[in-house]
Amino acid sequence: MSGFVIAVDGPAASGKGTIAAKLGALYGLPVLDTGLLYRAVGVLTQAAGASVDDPAAAAATARSLRPEQLEDPALRTRGAGEAASRVGVHTAVREALLDFQRAFAAQPGGAVLDGRDIGTVIAPDAPAKLYVTATPQVRAERRWKQLTGQGEAVAFEDILADIHKRDARDGGRDTAPMRPAEDAVLLDTSDLSIDRAFDAARRIVEAARARWESSQEPSSR
Ligand code: C5P
Repeated sequence: MSGFVIAVDGPAASGKGTIAAKLGALYGLPVLDTGLLYRAVGVLTQAAGASVDDPAAAAATARSLRPEQLEDPALRTRGAGEAASRVGVHTAVREALLDFQRAFAAQPGGAVLDGRDIGTVIAPDAPAKLYVTATPQVRAERRWKQLTGQGEAVAFEDILADIHKRDARDGGRDTAPMRPAEDAVLLDTSDLSIDRAFDAARRIVEAARARWESSQEPSSR
């Protein structure tokens, strides 16, 4: 029997990270923010003096990545997000990060993973899949507040432009493009507070959990 896996996908600043963390706390499941893997590969590739647009250099960084390298607060900056999105287009980088993510999802007790391709590529059999969205304007406002709150001086228009650019790059790449899995439930958080968005997510996951639990009963196997 495999554990209860919750896949939370969606574009930048849609609220998926907050929802994933809260779902993990609610169900007592470990949470992996897979964006951090790509952010770390981007930042460490640059730190090694290579270009994030060089697939071989970025893939070499991805292959040598260690979990403790995901703790760095510098991974939360705007520059790290841009670097992440650029290394994320390389197929070799995505392949190098696959085993770690799949092993995380395969933990016996289950897990929550958030990213862009969890429901489609990393954990296609996950019993609960959410695709969290919001309008670009709302997402840019959230990201702008987060970055200025961290002390980063950035103009709102630049953040909005980043969001549009990232959506186009993440959704347009050849390998594992960002898109909802066919069996994902869409959750638009544009008009929702964090509490309401989480409440909606919880209800979707509860329904999926009930279905998953009945499928685990001996009579239905
Ligand atoms: O979620 P976050 O904004 O931290 O992700 C940063 C970037 O990493 C994304 O824009 C995307 O290009 C890449 N990413 C990805 N696949 C994932 C998670 C993140 O390609 N599963």
